[in-house]
Amino acid sequence: MLNGKHIILGITGSIAAYKAAMLCRLLVKEGAEVRVIMTPLAKQFITPLTMATLSKHPILVEFFNPENGEWNSHVSLGEWADLMLIAPATANTLAKMVTGVADNLLLTTYLSARAKVAVAPAMDLDMYAHITTQTNIRTLAERGVEIIEPEAGELASGLVGKGRMAEPEEIVEQVKRILAPQKKTLEGKHYIVTAGATIEAIDPVRYITNHSTGKMGYAIAEELAVRGAKVTLISGRTTLPVPKGVERVDVLSAEDMYRAATAVWQEADGGVMCAAVADYTPVVVADKKLKKSDDDMRIELKRTKDIAKELGASKGGRILVGFALETDNEEANAEGKLERKNFDFVVLNSLRDAGAGFRGDTNKVTLIDRNGREEHPLMSKVDVARVIVDKIEKL
Ligand code: C5P
Repeated sequence: MLNGKHIILGITGSIAAYKAAMLCRLLVKEGAEVRVIMTPLAKQFITPLTMATLSKHPILVEFFNPENGEWNSHVSLGEWADLMLIAPATANTLAKMVTGVADNLLLTTYLSARAKVAVAPAMDLDMYAHITTQTNIRTLAERGVEIIEPEAGELASGLVGKGRMAEPEEIVEQVKRILAPQKKTLEGKHYIVTAGATIEAIDPVRYITNHSTGKMGYAIAEELAVRGAKVTLISGRTTLPVPKGVERVDVLSAEDMYRAATAVWQEADGGVMCAAVADYTPVVVADKKLKKSDDDMRIELKRTKDIAKELGASKGGRILVGFALETDNEEANAEGKLERKNFDFVVLNSLRDAGAGFRGDTNKVTLIDRNGREEHPLMSKVDVARVIVDKIEKL
């Protein structure tokens, strides 16, 4: 599966470096050409001789060979590679990748690499759980670096927890997935995705909104585009960058989102309604900032239009997918939505499940259609997007 693929295997100074030997052997066995770059500290954990023998090439550590001045060009290495895989990746290297510190050959190569990049973090459980490390990992993921999650188990420190580098076999599986040619299965199709929270103005200063970050919808938009679809992403306020290959229409209120969605619906082949749309909006938007007084205040609200329901009513042969975020009576409520809004399937996430719903990078969903339900385990939102788009593809 990896025949002829060029892989830079970056090894950093973690005790898990011993697993890099097996990883390298498996990659070579699968047909990949592997060049190993080690950080200076990594050499303390596994010998260059071992890695050079297994990769069939001298390993690279320094910017140049002090004996003869020969330059190890991080630029041409970066151009040569189909994938740069850093396994194990220490907290230190992850942090430097985020900030652009380039004080060794591995990091300069990372900055030069045009290839895909994947990291397999390995560290003690507290280092892994630390907000700094978690923020760095999230930042890298947002920039498109593939994160090969560590496992939970016994660590070198003797403590038990999450931080153990994924096993070499698992890393190879992920590498195959990352390098698999993406089939353009949705070429010629056009999808609308609504995402993020709407904003309903009260006056020029205040508004009503909700906790949606837009991450789930953005991941779906990106996955649809990766598979060749034309995607119109109608987005409420978020801080996320526009996914590659996606056309974004920025909106604020539910009414704006409704107008933007209905304007493209006729020419679309389907839609995924992921936005957290306000159900109510102020009857009057004050044109001047409301002044406080000693009395309580009441804001009268009126219903907004249900975008999903409107699109569902003129669905024809299109595919329409909805979301349900419930706190109680989850499945019955989700099934009700299937009928009321004429969805082909509903993605149910329950706020009762840890790691599901708003804000985080993970979600736990159940897909419900007229034939039954498919329950999925806790996954990254990117993986949830793949599951949802797989189902759209089947339909
Ligand atoms: O009925 P409820 O609002 O819980 O349904 C959620 C589903 O309907 C989501 O797919 C959401 O994006 C969509 N929706 C919509 N317009 C609204 C309210 C919800 O498209 N005004």
